Amino acid sequence: MSTKKTILITGGAGYIGSHTIIELLETTDFNIVSIDNYSNSSSKTFDRIEKITGKKINNHNIDICNKELLEPIFQNDNSIIGIIHFAAFKAVGESVLNPQKYYHNNINSLLNVLDCCVKYNVANFIFSSSCSVYGNINELPVKETTPIGKAESPYAYTKQIGEEILKDYSIGYQKLQTIALRYFNPVGAHMSGLTGELDINKPSNLVPIITNTAIGKIEKMHVHGSTYPTRDGTCIRDYVHVTDIAIAHIKALKYLIDKNNTSNFSIFNLGTGNGISVLEAIAAFEKVSEKKLNYSIGPNRTGDVIAIYSDNSFVEKTLNWIPKYNLEDMMSSAWKWELEQQNINK
Ligand code: NAD
Ligand code: WQD
Repeated sequence: MSTKKTILITGGAGYIGSHTIIELLETTDFNIVSIDNYSNSSSKTFDRIEKITGKKINNHNIDICNKELLEPIFQNDNSIIGIIHFAAFKAVGESVLNPQKYYHNNINSLLNVLDCCVKYNVANFIFSSSCSVYGNINELPVKETTPIGKAESPYAYTKQIGEEILKDYSIGYQKLQTIALRYFNPVGAHMSGLTGELDINKPSNLVPIITNTAIGKIEKMHVHGSTYPTRDGTCIRDYVHVTDIAIAHIKALKYLIDKNNTSNFSIFNLGTGNGISVLEAIAAFEKVSEKKLNYSIGPNRTGDVIAIYSDNSFVEKTLNWIPKYNLEDMMSSAWKWELEQQNINK
């Protein structure tokens, strides 16, 4: 019988979950189990993970909101010592049009997983939060201690509520150790180019739109506004490579498992600390791909934050996490994956 400890990944077939599984398989000795109902992904992601790592993943294809289906997974496996909870819906615009979908899925799934942690004594819990919890902010760079603002969308509000739930559970159930990781703008793909983000729905984020335009799936893209009070008039974001985000999860998990945490609930920002403008991102893509992008300046996008980037000092000091990939790595890996997708059946 295996004595290996198991890490349960919810949303393991998704963009960040799949890259985290790859890092866990390649750098740790944990047994990995995933739960994903493919509502925003494909089972083929696990074939790609296997191609990269040589390892098969056991995925439970269930809806985490269904507690009757979720609980037996915990009941039948007492090797689970940690959870990384990625599963959630994430499209900001859709959450404004269909808030019910977001509140139901993002909150119920979190409560169900946490309730199982409490009932089955799973002590270590990592939650995918987002820089969107900060809302529209004037103080830059953003620290974990920066007061969070008004959520600009139901999606962002599910992350604020999620963090509050986590904090209360870790006070009420003292054995539960939790971390919320606030990702800034995760982009790029596995450096092999063999897996990356799937565009199951029409992409709305900058980097998939850039690569879709370069390959001709989108005829022409628009820069959303160029008259902002920034160095070139376009919005500033903190783009961070998805594999660096994945590595941060492993460090956060080990921090809890090794009992290095000083609080039952901690928050860490995950960005690079560098603000990049839309035009700078496009220029980096054009450089690494050697392609001219078909774009023009369009109107401002409603609700866009002008500039946001992270202060990384706390996560660097506490988790010893320093992102290793730069903007060109982000763009070249995203482009490699876009080209790879021409050859594969998703
Ligand atoms: P994703 O959509 O690629 O992955 C989420 C996965 O969860 C999908 O595979 C989906 O099928 C699964 N899922 C969703 N609801 C489920 C349910 N009820 N039961 C079972 N499976 C379910 O998203 P991602 O980009 O990998 O994001 C992962 C997490 O990180 C999310 O919580 C998201 O809100 C958060 N986040 C993402 C970003 C980003 O830009 N990608 C930024 C900040 C935070
Ligand atoms: C980046 C920049 C756009 C598309 C979102 C969520 C946030 C988090 C990360 C989940 C902006 C500009 C974009 C285009 C453009 N996700 N842009 N033309 O809005 O920073 O953050 O993803 O938690 O919560 O809100 O990311 O990639 O959409 O935009 O000019 O066609 O690119 O205006 O300045 P955003 P994004």
